[in-house]
Amino acid sequence: MQSYFKIFLVLIAISVYSTTIAQSNHAIQILEQGRKTSIRGMSVVSNQIIWVSGSGGAVGKSLDGGKSFQWMTVRGYEKRDFRDIEAYNQKTAIIMAIAEPALILKTVDGGENWYKVFEDSTKGMFLDAMNAEAKTIQVIGDPINGKAFFAMSNDLGETWETNKLDGIALNDGEAFFASSGTNLQISQSSHTFKKGTFMVTGGKVSRLLNARDQRDQYPLPLLQGKESTGANSIAVSPSGKQAFIVGGDFAKDTMRTGNAIGVNLEPSIQFIQPKTPPFGYRSSVIYLTNKILVACGTSGVDISIDGGMHWENISSQSFHVVQKAKNGKAIFLAGGGGKIAKLNLNP
Ligand SMILES: *[C@@H]1O[C@H](CO)[C@@H](O)[C@H](O)[C@H]1NC(C)=O
Repeated sequence: MQSYFKIFLVLIAISVYSTTIAQSNHAIQILEQGRKTSIRGMSVVSNQIIWVSGSGGAVGKSLDGGKSFQWMTVRGYEKRDFRDIEAYNQKTAIIMAIAEPALILKTVDGGENWYKVFEDSTKGMFLDAMNAEAKTIQVIGDPINGKAFFAMSNDLGETWETNKLDGIALNDGEAFFASSGTNLQISQSSHTFKKGTFMVTGGKVSRLLNARDQRDQYPLPLLQGKESTGANSIAVSPSGKQAFIVGGDFAKDTMRTGNAIGVNLEPSIQFIQPKTPPFGYRSSVIYLTNKILVACGTSGVDISIDGGMHWENISSQSFHVVQKAKNGKAIFLAGGGGKIAKLNLNP
């Protein structure tokens, strides 16, 4: 009797212990869902201030770390798909609507009013992603007359200069995805070679390009050849020495071949195949440290703790975009059906 009781106690202890372990594992905490918007734009200013943008003219903002979101439909743009957003604080943000016409809007009063800072009705014009670095904002779009669309603002989005860089030629069927606003990254390294604006393409051809130096062009060892294939997202490590690129085939989102590649940026570009790739098509990747990365896509969320060589899937929930607080440690995910989640990592 007594020994049974001991075993019972041990079992209780084990189960309490394992529950604690399970709870202390990487946890995805859903903050919002059910709203009729597909979220692809996310900009996390701090642990408290989160902005998101999506289809149906929707923009959401939280000032309390995601506990509550304030939703707005941008007046006059109720049908637009805002695929990317860059936020500076709780008042100032810039949103990008993809096509017909391509538009960039800005608010300086927290989203009460939005004004147009860029518009282009050129046929075939399709904006894909923005990237902000201090007062400089860059935007890329699908090719017009065979050349990548590129525009830049040096005054927080007030005025824009188009194709200042003379347009980089893309191949037939090569374009950018507008899946998470993260296929454009500025590398601030002091090494001249790596200093640049990296862009990754997809479609019939998938390449790594440097908007500031047309000689920097590298075919990517990722899936390509179809409209649904190629690179979707690039992240540059905090050290500036590495980058990581994800993508795959969004039409076969559990396929694990050709969906991720590591990049050594110095002394010259070198690609490194992950030994255990992420668990399917991935549309967004970020570095938390030089070693820890998070990626997400419609078939799940993965983490790597060794610079992207081995990935562990921590969820099979669908998300389009993952972002870390620019000024803080909080990590958020967003996706279809108005879903927003917080990722709590407990190593
Ligand atoms: C990881 O992926 C496998 C295979 O797709 C799946 O069976 C498993 O449930 C996933 N694990 C998590 C934590 O989602």
